[in-house]
Amino acid sequence: MRDRTDGRGFATRSIHAGERPDPVTHALNPPIYLSSTFAFDSAAEKEDAVDRSLAWEPGAYFYSRTSNPTNRALEEKVASIEGAEDAVVASSGMAVVSSTLLAHLGAGDHVVVGDELFAITEVLLADDFPRRGIGVSAVDMTDLAAVEAAITPATKLLFLETSTNPRLRVPDLAALAELGHRRGLVVIADNTFLGPALLRPIEHGADLVLHAATKYLSGHGDAVSGVAAGSKALLDPIRKQVDTLGQAASPLSSWLVMRGIRTLQLRSRAASANALQLARYLEGQPAVAWVHYPGLPSHPDHEVAQRLIEGPGGAMLTFRTRGGLDGMAAFTDHLRLCDIGVSLGDVHTLVYPRPKQGGIIRVSVGCEDVDDLLEDFALGLSYVS
Ligand SMILES: Cc1ncc(COP(=O)(O)O)c(C=O)c1O
Repeated sequence: MRDRTDGRGFATRSIHAGERPDPVTHALNPPIYLSSTFAFDSAAEKEDAVDRSLAWEPGAYFYSRTSNPTNRALEEKVASIEGAEDAVVASSGMAVVSSTLLAHLGAGDHVVVGDELFAITEVLLADDFPRRGIGVSAVDMTDLAAVEAAITPATKLLFLETSTNPRLRVPDLAALAELGHRRGLVVIADNTFLGPALLRPIEHGADLVLHAATKYLSGHGDAVSGVAAGSKALLDPIRKQVDTLGQAASPLSSWLVMRGIRTLQLRSRAASANALQLARYLEGQPAVAWVHYPGLPSHPDHEVAQRLIEGPGGAMLTFRTRGGLDGMAAFTDHLRLCDIGVSLGDVHTLVYPRPKQGGIIRVSVGCEDVDDLLEDFALGLSYVS
């Protein structure tokens, strides 16, 4: 096979990295290796593959809970686009969040985390970590003095989300990485809400970046998957934890995520442009009480977002209608194009009404024509009294 390159640019690597035409069949797309086990010509060959695979050597396979060629192809693609040495894929976003934290924390250790995290990450930290003897302090990551004050001699990690849910606060990642490293901590960024086309945390000093690949990386709402990227030294314990906790990725999901990543930049740019227009529209409507979108000058982290995030400020926005919970439901229940759903990062616009959080509405803006989105939002708002 002739010499090949993955290219240099982000879009080129999103398409080419981790993928090669099959040398036997010449199939352009990578195969989905739906094989739990691998067969060998001799006992010695099998033993060698087992030893190399359990030493986390890329390209060594004996059993798909431990390593699989389709999962590996996704890992290579993600490592390339994140500018990382390596990556580890797992069965879901929560699989990488839990394996990463458990691999790097033990009894007596302490972690400083953001005070507005994905709900299930919060459940893990609140319900699971105390009985494992791991201390947790939750602080506002946009307040550097509060973060520094929360660090104790037992602190090992700083764990943050790059754009929080639901207020879309954008912490100053570069300043947090500098602080974390000065205090000897490993800095971990969950970048699910933005994705690597808009922000690459490792370029701003983070040691590890995590994704629910279920969201922007997949982009089509058809796979549940998670991935962590960073140095091999930090990832090998996570790879082992993923294996021992049985959080192996499905090769089919990895293939779907790999396909999604090929269009990540196009989708991220289109959805961000739509989000800015929707946010500006909502901010001007009398039926809307407030809008949170980092691309609006009214957002508290607008300046940080402009510095860190490519484009206007991502494709997530949160707002509240007037009229309390009735206003919220009047809006969502009269939409005809956008759907009510809890996920995000899909090409399909999803609205997530949250009655238990005062009736706020989170919007994962998709890639539809913006005029259609504006018309649907206007229809919904026309029912808010
Ligand atoms: C920021 C963040 N991290 C992690 C997760 C967990 O991902 P998954 O649902 O794939 O387990 C989510 C899911 O919404 C999320 O929003």
